[in-house]
Amino acid sequence: MKNILIVNSSISGEQGQSNQLIENFVQALGSQVIETRVDLNQQQLPHLAMNEFAAWMTPAADRSLEQKELAALSDLSIAQVQAADVILIGVPMYNFGIPSQLKAWFDRIARAGITFKYTETGSVGLLADKPVVFFATRGGIYKDLPHDSQTPFLKAFFNFVGLKNLHFIYAEGLSMGADSAKAALEAAKAQIEDLTTELAA
Ligand SMILES: Cc1cc2nc3c(=O)[nH]c(=O)nc-3n(C[C@H](O)[C@H](O)[C@H](O)COP(=O)(O)O)c2cc1C
Repeated sequence: MKNILIVNSSISGEQGQSNQLIENFVQALGSQVIETRVDLNQQQLPHLAMNEFAAWMTPAADRSLEQKELAALSDLSIAQVQAADVILIGVPMYNFGIPSQLKAWFDRIARAGITFKYTETGSVGLLADKPVVFFATRGGIYKDLPHDSQTPFLKAFFNFVGLKNLHFIYAEGLSMGADSAKAALEAAKAQIEDLTTELAA
């Protein structure tokens, strides 16, 4: 039985292509999964601000009630990541970057002393490695091109917190006509078949 953490960040709900590809992936994995779902479009995490950051830096026993509530946002997000065997993350391309909802979630995952630490030789990720699958849905074409702002950032961020077993399912050219979108989604579904077989093995 695998514990799957599903993180949706599309603003388009059930119509979101990244959300639909995630559902395809979960179905392909079969029924032997426990799902934890985080829909960032519903959860609406605020931008990280200093009062929340200060709550993290205050020892848990000394936190005010407000600081306890603020720290709980990050504590819960990190606990969900720690508990997962596999993490699925929807990553639509919005205005040449990741959705700000997803960035707000990343801002709760990066915690000094909990998910990373710095040493004299550099940073060390503290999360136990596990497969992370990104569902990168894009109107245009960016994969392996210099103007792909998402993939290098995702690799850098997840490696920083110790997650190195990263997989990317791309559906590109979704705004470039019906034929382009159809071909992209078919290619993504074929990738999903292969990857779910690999991860189930
Ligand atoms: C607000 C907004 C901004 C977008 N910006 C870009 C962009 O910069 N580059 C791109 O290739 N596609 C862009 N698109 C197209 C989306 O990447 C495409 O519709 C994709 O399907 C979004 O994923 P989703 O369906 O899971 O939300 C944008 C779409 C929206 C709604």
